[in-house]
Order: sequence, then C-alpha cells, then structure tokens
Amino acid sequence: MSVEATVEAPANIAFIKYWGAADLERAIPLNPSISMTLRRCVSRTTVRLIDEGRADEVFLVGEAGDLQPCTGSFRSRVVAQLERLRLWSGTRNGFCVATRNSFPAAAGMASSASGFAALTVAVVHALGKPTSAAELSELARLSGSGSASRSVMGGYVEWPTEADPDSCRATQLAPESHWDLRDVVALVQRDPKTVSSLEGHVRAPTSPHFARRQELLSARLDVVREAIRERCLERLGPVLELDAIELHLVAMSSVPAIFYWSPATLRVLERVRRLRQDGLEAWSTMDAGANVHVICTPQSEPQVAAALAATEGVHELVRDGVGAGPKLLTESLLPAAP
Ligand code: DP6
Repeated sequence: MSVEATVEAPANIAFIKYWGAADLERAIPLNPSISMTLRRCVSRTTVRLIDEGRADEVFLVGEAGDLQPCTGSFRSRVVAQLERLRLWSGTRNGFCVATRNSFPAAAGMASSASGFAALTVAVVHALGKPTSAAELSELARLSGSGSASRSVMGGYVEWPTEADPDSCRATQLAPESHWDLRDVVALVQRDPKTVSSLEGHVRAPTSPHFARRQELLSARLDVVREAIRERCLERLGPVLELDAIELHLVAMSSVPAIFYWSPATLRVLERVRRLRQDGLEAWSTMDAGANVHVICTPQSEPQVAAALAATEGVHELVRDGVGAGPKLLTESLLPAAP
C-alpha cells in the first residue's frame, strides 16, 4: 500500500497586505498582515512517498485528470520546499506530487499561497507527522510564498513580524463561523502578472511612499482587528480599500515602477464606489495583479455580482467567501501505485 495524503488548501485575500520583506529568502515580512481565508479558490495536492534516494516527481493535473510533468521555476520552488520538509522531518524518502487548482484556468489569480499551503500540509500528513497549525504556518512560509503562511488556517488570520525570525507564524484572529463575509472576484486579466510578488517585495523600499505606509500601518492594523472582532464592515471596508490602493501606489512609485492595473481595474474600482453611493456595503482590494476582489456582505453579494458582471472588461467572476482552511481528502490525484 502506498503512503500518501491528499489535501485541499485555500487561497486567502489580505485586508492589510504583505509588501516588503526583511528577509526575502525566508519570507520574513517587514509588516504584519491580516487576511481572510477563502473557501472556493483552492489547490488540491496529493503527495506520495517514494523510495529513498529517488528524485522527486512533480505533476500538474489537467482538466481531464491527466498528469503533465511540471517544469520551470514552479517545479524548482516545489522541489526546494520538498527538500526543506525532508530536512525538517528527517526522512530520506522521495516524493511524488500531483497538484491542481480550482481557479478558472488562466485567470491570472495568484495560486502560490494555496499551492504551497496544500503541498506543505500534504507532505506532513503523508509522513504521518501532523503538527500544530502554528508550525505548519512556519513551514509553509519557508516556501518563499509568505502569504502561504496564512493559508494553513481558516477564518481571519494575522501573520506578524517577529523579533525571532525562526518563529514568524500566523495566528487565527477568528474562525470562519465568526463572520460570513463574501469576496466577489472580478477577473479582468487572463495572463500571469509580469512582475512577481517576490520582485515587488524587493523593489518596495525604493518607493518614497514605502516608509510612510509602514508608519501608518500600526493604527490601520488596530482598526482591522477591531472591525473583525465586532463584525463591522463599515469600519473594515475603508481601511482594506485604502491599504490595497497604497500597495499599488508603492508599486507604481518603485524603481523600476510596477503597474499591475489595467483599464478594467479602474472601471471596477469606479463601479464599486458607485455601488456604495447606492447604499451597498462593498469594498475593493487587489493583490499584485489587475483583478479586483470585492468584499461584501451576503446581502449585497447578488447585486455586487450583477454589477461587476456587467462592467466592461470583466471576463469572469468568482464568487467566494470566508472558508475553514485546509482539509484532508480521501480521493487521490495520482493513479494507484503498481
Ligand atoms: C500582494 O510573496 O506571499 O498578495 O507567493 O505570489 O502569493 P505569492 O506572494 P507573497 O506576497 C503576497 C503579496 C500580496 C499581499 C498579501 O497577500 O499579503
């Protein structure tokens, strides 16, 4: 019998963003971040132990369940993470990995956070070494995708900076049952982004607005924590929208400059402002890309979705919401072992 585990882990959307690293290689952030774990945007990953000394195998699973060998930089990042997890566990086994995303194909949505969270949790379970959510957060962070450290837990999650960089771990502020918030994602970009988040972290301190954002963040984080505690979107919304705009302000004023927005991004931002004038609670946020996540209540979600679907340049919507975090699945993405 083969020893394996299959895990589904979600993406997350940050209300206060990680942008700028104290140590990029180990994903130690310069500022704390707070996010909401999603439910429907997930990566599913099977990890099977293979013989000691055998090279790791990494596959992407196609629409029809077919396996495509994974190549390029994503493969290198996966193999580097497997090596870290080998060192952590003391095992000498190789790993066979198959992974797929639930996100619409070529939607330009970030998948590193869910992908590395799923990989990390699946390896730990395949090895029969389940560990605390805090340690999983640290192990996922070491993949280099800092936001993966927030995807190993559900609900509302804070990832702090730490005096001791060896324990820079996320904590759950509230479980998903605390507050039913929705995230309607307006997809306006099909291609992968041209400048990676990793490069964005490197360039961030070259912006004259970077240091000012860092100064403003402490008060902003307090508002977000309190708004989550009190389930108050009226307080949370303006702050999450402002922080996303400021991330992009920093990106656009970095050297060299990074422009993630497309004309359709601005049209969606404008549409969301008009929805608010009509009395709907809806607020925009963007990661390092052109797509817009609109955070809203379950009551406003149908109208938000209808308005975004009718906005020029929006080619697809993903209707998501707060989720419970990673879970173990019984069905494998790999064919039965011979
Ligand atoms: C803008 O270095 O975690 O999404 O690995 O591509 O997810 P990925 O990037 P990472 O930086 C995240 C940048 C961000 C803000 C955030 O999620 O905090």
